Amino acid sequence: MADIRNDFVGIKSPNPFWLASAPPTDKAYNIERAFKAGWGGVVWKTLGEEGPPIVNVNGPRYGAIWGGDRRLLGLNNIELITDRDLYLNLREIKQIKKDWPDRAVVVSLMVPCEEQAWKAILPLVEETGADGIELNFGCPHGMSERGMGSAVGQVPEYIEMVTRWCKANTRMPIIVKLTPNITDIRYPARAAHAGGADAVSLINTVSSITSVNLDTFSPEPSIDGKGSHGGYCGPAVKPIALNMVAEIARDPETSDLPISGIGGVTTWRDAAEFMVLGAGNVQVCTAAMTYGFRIVQEMISGLEAWMDTKGHDNLDAITARAVPNVTDWQYLNLNYVTKARINQDLCIKCGRCHIACEDTSHQAITHMVNGARHFEVIDKECVGCNLCVNVCPVEDCITMEQLSPGTVDKRTGKPVEEKYGNWTEHPNNPSKVAAE
Ligand SMILES: Cc1cc2nc3c(=O)[nH]c(=O)nc-3n(C[C@H](O)[C@H](O)[C@H](O)COP(=O)(O)O)c2cc1C
Ligand code: SF4
Ligand code: SF4
Repeated sequence: MADIRNDFVGIKSPNPFWLASAPPTDKAYNIERAFKAGWGGVVWKTLGEEGPPIVNVNGPRYGAIWGGDRRLLGLNNIELITDRDLYLNLREIKQIKKDWPDRAVVVSLMVPCEEQAWKAILPLVEETGADGIELNFGCPHGMSERGMGSAVGQVPEYIEMVTRWCKANTRMPIIVKLTPNITDIRYPARAAHAGGADAVSLINTVSSITSVNLDTFSPEPSIDGKGSHGGYCGPAVKPIALNMVAEIARDPETSDLPISGIGGVTTWRDAAEFMVLGAGNVQVCTAAMTYGFRIVQEMISGLEAWMDTKGHDNLDAITARAVPNVTDWQYLNLNYVTKARINQDLCIKCGRCHIACEDTSHQAITHMVNGARHFEVIDKECVGCNLCVNVCPVEDCITMEQLSPGTVDKRTGKPVEEKYGNWTEHPNNPSKVAAE
C-alpha cells in the first residue's frame, strides 16, 4: 500500500488532506468530527486580534452556481474571519492539539498591518502548541476594506514586511496564504519567499458577484435588498488555482518554496493534480461544506489506489512530477498534428459536434451523408481543436488522433514533420525573421 503520510515544512500528518481555514474549522466541535472522519490536518478559521469579536451579517452569506444537475460548482461567501472570542478559540486549539497529536493543527491569523499587532498575537498561538501559522493575506471582502486580507496580499512589499515581522517573532513555521485577486501570482509568492516564509498556500477566494435577482435588482446573497462582492471558491475555481500553483512551482525564484494547494479540491484526483503540479499537500473547504467530512475517506482510498496502480510508493514520488511539462505557448510543438475521430458505435447522433464545428469552428463534421444523419470528421478541414470532444455528451465518443510523422495532413497538403518545431523558430514569427 502506498505511504501517503505527509511532511509539510516539518508539520506531519497521516495524509495530505487538510481542511482549509473556513467554517469547517471554526471550532473544536467541527474539528473533532473532522479528525474522527480522517482528515490529516486543519487550518483553524482565521483569528483576529484581541478585542470585541468580528460581526457577521445576520442574513444569507452564501451564493452559488450550479450545473444542470444542481450539483454545486461554485460557492460565493461574504463571511468574515472568526466571530468567536480569541481566548475561547485559543483554549480550544490547545485542547485539540493535545487530543490529536498526530494531526496537523495550523492557525490562520489576520491582524492589522502593524508590527505590534503581530507581535502580540504570535506568542498566544505559540502557547497552544499549534504546529504552525498561516497568514491570511487573502480575504477579498470585509476585512480588505479595513486594510487587512487581500489589501495586504495585493501589495508584495507588505507581504514581505509582515512575513519578516512574523518570522522574527515566532519559531513556528509560517505559511503565507495568497490571494488570487492579482495580475501575476509570482510577485506575491516571491515577496513571501523574500520575507522568509516557510511556504505559501493558495488560492484564497476570487472576488465575485454570483448572481443578481431580476425582480428586486439586488445582487445575491441579498441583505435587505443590497449585495456586496464576495469570495468565490469550489470546483469552478480549480483551474485558476492549478495555474497559479504551477506558476509558482516553475518560477526559478520560488521553485524551492513549498506550496499548499487550495481551490476546488473535491476528489482524490483533484488533489493529485495539485500535487503533481508542485503542491506538497492540499486544503479543502467547499467540498467539505457540500458533502460533509466523510468525503476525505474517498480522497484517501482513491489516492492510495491510484498510487498503488502506478507504482508510486510515497508522496515524494508524485510531487511536482508535472511541473517540467508546464511550458509557455511559444515552446509547444507545432509539428504535433491531430484530427478528431468519431466512434460510430457510441455516437447517438445528437448533432452537437456538427453544430459547434459548423457554426463556430472549422466546418469539419458532416451531418447528412447519402440522405441519412451521419457525423464524421472531414480531415481536409479539421484543425484538431478539440471543441467537438468537449461538447459531445457521450464520453470517449470523439477522441483526438495524432497523425504519425510522414502522414500527409489533408488540410495543409504537407507531410507531418518528425522533428519538434516551435513558434520561436517558425518562419512566420516576425521576431525570428528580424533576428536572421
Ligand atoms: C464561508 C467561507 C469562509 C472562509 N473563511 C476563510 C477564512 O476565515 N480564512 C481564510 O484564510 N480563508 C477563508 N476561506 C477560504 C478557504 O479557506 C479557501 O481558501 C477557499 O474556499 C478555496 O478552497 P475551496 O475551493 O476548497 O473552497 C473561506 C471560504 C468560505 C467558503
Ligand atoms: S477538432 Fe475542431 S475542427 Fe476538428 S472536427 Fe472537432 S471541432 Fe471541428
Ligand atoms: S456530439 Fe457526439 S454523440 Fe452527438 S453526434 Fe456528435 S459524436 Fe455523435
